[in-house]
Amino acid sequence: MEIQSIKQRFGIIGHSPVLDRALDVARQVSPTDISVLITGESGVGKEVFPKIIHQLSARKHGPFIAVNCGAIPEGTIDSELFGHEKGSFTGAHEARRGYFEVVNNGTIFLDEVAELPLLTQVRLLRVLESGEFMKVGSSKALKTNVRVVAATNVNLQEAIQSGKFREDLFYRLNTVPIYVPPLRERQEDIIMLFKKFSSDFAEKYRMPPLQLTPEAERILLNYRWPGNIRQLKNMAEQISVIENNRIISPEIIHKYLPHAAESNLPVLVSDLKKNENAISERDLLYKVLFDMKKDIADLKKIIAELDRSGLVSGDFQQENPQLIKSLYKNMEDHQNEDIVRNPIDEKSQNRQDDLHQIIENYEEETSSIGEENLSIQHKERDLIVKALQRHNGRRKRAAQELGISERTLYRKIKEYDIRY
Ligand SMILES: Nc1ncnc2c1ncn2[C@@H]1O[C@H](COP(=O)(O)OP(=O)(O)OP(=O)(O)O)[C@@H](O)[C@H]1O
Ligand SMILES: [Mg+2]
Repeated sequence: MEIQSIKQRFGIIGHSPVLDRALDVARQVSPTDISVLITGESGVGKEVFPKIIHQLSARKHGPFIAVNCGAIPEGTIDSELFGHEKGSFTGAHEARRGYFEVVNNGTIFLDEVAELPLLTQVRLLRVLESGEFMKVGSSKALKTNVRVVAATNVNLQEAIQSGKFREDLFYRLNTVPIYVPPLRERQEDIIMLFKKFSSDFAEKYRMPPLQLTPEAERILLNYRWPGNIRQLKNMAEQISVIENNRIISPEIIHKYLPHAAESNLPVLVSDLKKNENAISERDLLYKVLFDMKKDIADLKKIIAELDRSGLVSGDFQQENPQLIKSLYKNMEDHQNEDIVRNPIDEKSQNRQDDLHQIIENYEEETSSIGEENLSIQHKERDLIVKALQRHNGRRKRAAQELGISERTLYRKIKEYDIRY
């Protein structure tokens, strides 16, 4: 298949020689079963490559599955990939087939492969080398015929140096490397991409098309594009939706690219620092408060659960009336209500009634906590979106700024369906 028709079929815009080269390697390696590692900065367009490789291979009628290794919790990733036997861990009520079994005769795309835990890396190496794997909790080796295409925006050499990625796995995955270059090295594609995205969005939002002035074009050409094509696409969408003036001048561009004046030169460390500090104090305070509120809600849940199971002793309740009172502040309002008591064991019934009252109050409270949680979630989503915007979609930096791990950030992005 010609490179041009690959671009058309997969919706790839651009004609820079570096992009064509990457596509050419993908085309050539497709018919083989060789593992491919796709590298490149965040937002450069790595995700289309595994699809091309699968579609142009003899496996095209077999299954294709994309697994985001960063989004799966560490505790379940082995089971997701390789399956598990019934009873192999708490909660494993049924045996389950993993992706490597399900995708037999197809292709697995391991996205964000650098996020794989080290022990999973060992299992992966084995399946790549021998086609054999074992389900979690089983000692029986199973055979599978799966082609692996992996992608990452992490510098794997550095990850190897710091002991986070196995060198043997790197060489095994990297049999054929495909490097997708950053947008700033594909200058000839920038305007074409902007025009395509903005015309698509203008159509989607039923707005007139945008037109760049020559000065605005120059700014886009000289910008560093740290978030690459994802950033360009987001910017085109925002401008398409927000701007009434459809002739796009440098002033308008500057609103969406705050550091555009810094051009395509190497970024000074001081500038990076400035950007990193851009999170406002208010945002930070919000975050701390939300985290605390969530912790308190969780603690209350745990205490009520203990109460339910009768694990909070009556003595403790009697010795700490203030604590119980402040935890369940509505309790007093209900104390004078008529309660049908069991005459046989009034003391124990009293305690049970108190307990029921506590639980009822707790439930009342948690229903309002439920509402608060919802608004907390909105704020949290908002914080994440803002952090991603500030860092042009670079999740590592956004996670650092938010003070959470990248893995948690991936999960939150998925949970809140954030498309950035
Ligand atoms: N050449 C291109 N033509 C059209 N759209 C593109 C092109 N390259 C990338 N895109 C679009 O840019 C966005 C980002 O690309 P993609 O999701 O593949 O990035 P990525 O390299 O996987 O980044 P990350 O490492 O952050 O996951 C997607 O919406 C994708 O469709
Ligand atoms: Mg990606």
